[in-house]
Amino acid sequence: GKVAVLMGGSSAEREVSLMSGGGVLQALQSRGVDAHAFDPSTNNLCDLKTHGYDRCFIALHGRHGEDGTVQGALELLGIPYTGSGVMASSIAMDKTMTKRIWRAEGLSTPDWKLVASAAETAQAFKDLGSPMIVKPAREGSTIGLTKVTSVGQCEQAYHLAARFDPEVLCEQFIDGDETTCPILGQGRDARALPVIRIVAPDGKYDYQNKYFTDVTQYHCPSGLPDAEEREIQRLVVQAFRTLDCRGWARADIMIRKTDRKPFLLEINTSPGMTGHSLVPMSAKASGLDYPELCIRILMSASL
Ligand code: DAL
Ligand code: MG
Repeated sequence: GKVAVLMGGSSAEREVSLMSGGGVLQALQSRGVDAHAFDPSTNNLCDLKTHGYDRCFIALHGRHGEDGTVQGALELLGIPYTGSGVMASSIAMDKTMTKRIWRAEGLSTPDWKLVASAAETAQAFKDLGSPMIVKPAREGSTIGLTKVTSVGQCEQAYHLAARFDPEVLCEQFIDGDETTCPILGQGRDARALPVIRIVAPDGKYDYQNKYFTDVTQYHCPSGLPDAEEREIQRLVVQAFRTLDCRGWARADIMIRKTDRKPFLLEINTSPGMTGHSLVPMSAKASGLDYPELCIRILMSASL
């Protein structure tokens, strides 16, 4: 059948989505899939029906793409799509909601405060301690994020984050190893892929170093002790299943230096598929090349 690769969109991660979607489109076509690019910011989703598409690969990131809205529209149109359903997508887009659920389920995530002003951000800094991460609750790719180490930085950090989302999240910074781990499958069949350990210059794994430079080092195999690798894999599968995620996702975890305890930061339900992205890197380490990975995700499309 005819497949639409949904890419672009109108979120702050549009540029990243165009890179992800371009890669996916080419990979699917190289495997003989009748795939076409479709940008919901310039096309009406209802046209998917009239143009005879019978499946969607969602390569959109951020709001109006990864947050359950597009998923809901596809439900109404009756077109199967890749990745999580409406509820899991919309919860995972909101880092605060996600953390509330994980914490309620006993999964570790750093302490946090939701703030509505620069003054509340300064108060959060007093409560949570230094360093503290200030970020939009519903954004991706490190956009709008500041690592605050003095109370004087709180005002600017708040206003930067608030430019992207009125909901601003302050989170205790966990000093240690930065890792990420993809999950494939669904329910009891959900499985973690190999863990990737990320080493960025000065710990600065930001938008630029995620997509446009080659200064970040990625280790996969992670080089972590086996027991730690397995603990992270168990944790991300629980994190995935607790939110009822589906198909594929990638969870980000910090391992605290002092006691090697892993902390969940967030789960991305439509992870990057760019040339610099991490799900393809981890899949490759497990023997699944990029086109095979795309086919596997496409096959898991459902309603
Ligand atoms: N939000 C970006 C696309 C990621 O998590 O890969
Ligand atoms: Mg993210």
